Amino acid sequence: MSVVKINAITVPEDRQERFEERFRGRAGAVESTPGFEWFELLRPREGTDQYLVYTRWSSEEAYEAWQNSQDFDRAHAGGGDTLAPAAAGSSHLWSYEVIEYAGPRVHQEGQA
Ligand code: HEM
Repeated sequence: MSVVKINAITVPEDRQERFEERFRGRAGAVESTPGFEWFELLRPREGTDQYLVYTRWSSEEAYEAWQNSQDFDRAHAGGGDTLAPAAAGSSHLWSYEVIEYAGPRVHQEGQA
């Protein structure tokens, strides 16, 4: 079963624009990592002020290999003193197992 790793980050208001900009220019290396399945950056709208970096992996090992890799370090090395991970705000890593999932039904040609 897949695992979900969510990094929940509180970003001070005056740094949010820059934070999102960093993600628009992100390394893009995670897409080529074995076992990587999905990534989303979620901006808080209501009920929370935490950004969520949602990632899904084929296994715990796949995630850990990426987290210990140079790709991870490189993806987090930028940002200078205002956006380097340590300075962006508080962050928490949440881990989940996917136990049920669904996507929209795909209608095939010729079917109702
Ligand atoms: C102190 C904690 C962390 C902070 C503040 C942080 C912040 C950031 C920022 C600002 C970027 C944009 C790239 C850049 O700045 O150059 C980034 C990239 C990314 N982060 Fe984090 N991050 C942290 C830890 C983590 C963890 C534990 C995960 C695991 C889910 C994660 C997942 C990602 C992913 C998937 C990318 C995109 C990498 C790519 O494009 O190859 N981050 N992070």
